[in-house]
Amino acid sequence: MTGMIGDSPPMREVYRLTRKVASSQATVLLLGETGTGKELVAKAIHDLSPRRTGPFIRVNCGALSESLLESELFGHVKGAFTSAHENRTGRFEAAHGGTIFLDEINSTSYTLQVKLLRVLQEHEFERVGDTRTISVDVRIVAATNRDLIEMVERGKFREDLFYRLNVLPIYLPPLRERIDDVPPLAEFFAKKYAEENGRQNMVLDAETLTYLKRYSWPGNVRELQNYIERSIVLAAADRLTADLLPPHVRGEAPLRLGRLNRTDLESMCSELVSMGLAAAPEEGAAYNKVMGLVEKELIQQVLRVCQGTQTKTASRLGINRNTLHKKIEEYSLESDAR
Ligand SMILES: Nc1ncnc2c1ncn2[C@@H]1O[C@H](COP(=O)(O)OP(=O)(O)OP(=O)(O)O)[C@@H](O)[C@H]1O
Ligand SMILES: [Mg+2]
Repeated sequence: MTGMIGDSPPMREVYRLTRKVASSQATVLLLGETGTGKELVAKAIHDLSPRRTGPFIRVNCGALSESLLESELFGHVKGAFTSAHENRTGRFEAAHGGTIFLDEINSTSYTLQVKLLRVLQEHEFERVGDTRTISVDVRIVAATNRDLIEMVERGKFREDLFYRLNVLPIYLPPLRERIDDVPPLAEFFAKKYAEENGRQNMVLDAETLTYLKRYSWPGNVRELQNYIERSIVLAAADRLTADLLPPHVRGEAPLRLGRLNRTDLESMCSELVSMGLAAAPEEGAAYNKVMGLVEKELIQQVLRVCQGTQTKTASRLGINRNTLHKKIEEYSLESDAR
């Protein structure tokens, strides 16, 4: 598969499915943790499809507010809202004849989900503030890093839209479940970043590889990519030695949440970014994304200590119980209503 490294059985299955779905017009849903390669597969589906000469348009549904996302997708007419000074073409129109990749589809609001369902069913929509119906010929590929079935059960995602999207699901396995892919990926990134940094023959030490194969990769391929890039920049010679890896990858100083102060929190944020758990900063969303991850992890851990009791958890965290309740809902955490 173009641009995709890894020959493990689960990845071979991904390549097989990708090739198979590419020729059809059907909607594809890409599932999998952050950094597993969903965007690469979306692009591969487009490049292998009969639409390859048409546009490939990516929209990150998680990076924009509801109203901005609506006008980004469908466009708007002048005067539709205060800041609509001009008519604007939406991304669905821009993708005409090609593929639209709706990334983080789980982040869309219920109202927008109704409109998306209509596009999926009828290939029709109106620009915001307009009555004229627009028809497009667009192939839809969507991705989610949240469990949509669980969101449907909790009333956060429309069931009808889920079934419409889930025609051809492709699951990208986490890197820890295909650890044999780590060495070829590491070599691939070493070569790539060596070239970019004007170095040649970057050799990965056996010890480095041992650590890389032992680590659990919560940020998946993106995390591996970040560490290799960082190590190459830091390396003094043409060897990628284990001491260049972050301590927690070498099994030391695991990333842990104890009693946090501001400095700890800040360094943890940058760690999360480098682990690839927070996507590349996009439209100013990185801060909230990282803070959300830290918050989720913190609440989860304190809930565990307090055996899921909300009253105790709220008082230990020093936050209001209603606030805690909202956060638990938002992050879909397990808890006891007490
Ligand atoms: N099999 C692979 N071979 C080579 N590079 C890969 C592979 N899988 C992922 N990558 C690289 O890892 C990074 C993350 O991949 P990608 O953006 O496709 O992940 P994602 O599943 O969309 O993650 P997120 O849910 O965070 O958006 C990218 O730079 C991508 O090029
Ligand atoms: Mg992505």
